[in-house]
Amino acid sequence: MKDAVEVAVEAARAAGKIQRDRSQNIGRISPKGSRDLVTEVDILCEQEVIRIIKKRFPDHQILAEESGASEGPSSPSKWIIDPLDGTINYAHGFPCYCVSIGLEHDGEIIVGVVYNPCLDELFVAEKGKGATLNSEPISVSTIPKLENSLLVTGFTPEVVNSLDDNMGYFRDFMKASQAVRRPGSAAIDICYTAMGRFEGFWELKLHPWDVAAGFLIMQEAGGKVTKLDGDPLGVYDREILASNGLVHDEMVKILKH
Ligand code: IPD
Ligand code: CA
Ligand code: CA
Repeated sequence: MKDAVEVAVEAARAAGKIQRDRSQNIGRISPKGSRDLVTEVDILCEQEVIRIIKKRFPDHQILAEESGASEGPSSPSKWIIDPLDGTINYAHGFPCYCVSIGLEHDGEIIVGVVYNPCLDELFVAEKGKGATLNSEPISVSTIPKLENSLLVTGFTPEVVNSLDDNMGYFRDFMKASQAVRRPGSAAIDICYTAMGRFEGFWELKLHPWDVAAGFLIMQEAGGKVTKLDGDPLGVYDREILASNGLVHDEMVKILKH
């Protein structure tokens, strides 16, 4: 597995470098719609990540946001890639974006790497071996009560036109916690919860590439990750509640309300 971690880190750093180098020249294109942008940099990062992974693991499957699922013979190993999480931030020069790479093996995430080039922060987790930020171990916060918690969420392009738009939860958590932030990169939101900057994160209608790496980073940092109602979560579920564990039940209570 060491090999896979090294490859994921190499690929994440390579994509982060592209993001940094191209930040003044993003090559904006938007085939998905005004809220769901894709830039040339999303595509370049994805190609580079896949190239690096394929060089070492040619038989592994790939599920990547922009190119979808790879074809070819099935393999128990699948890389789940968000080449640029926080594209709207990136397109506006707001420094909060990253690359997220998870490796699933036999249905379980065993490696998770998130790299934020704006702060040069590299989050790495390996199943059973803990989580690190720039090689230092991380763990979730010890704040026990929701009223003292800083929470984080996001609003996917999909929820904006839906009745299920997260606004009710946002309002409820604003009243029940110290504050709620909405930075615009789900992978960073999860990693910040894993390292104790936030106590809890929830979001609706996410995709596996948004959460695959963060899912393991949270678990290895001692956090709790479930569906909004507290039931067990898989990375293909389209919702997430991640917390330091201590405020989880309080959050579930509000989300079930
Ligand atoms: C988005 C970001 C954002 C979240 C959206 C995601 P993208 O990913 O993670 O924080 O609220 O749900 O779609 O499109 O920038 O890769
Ligand atoms: Ca994303
Ligand atoms: Ca993306």
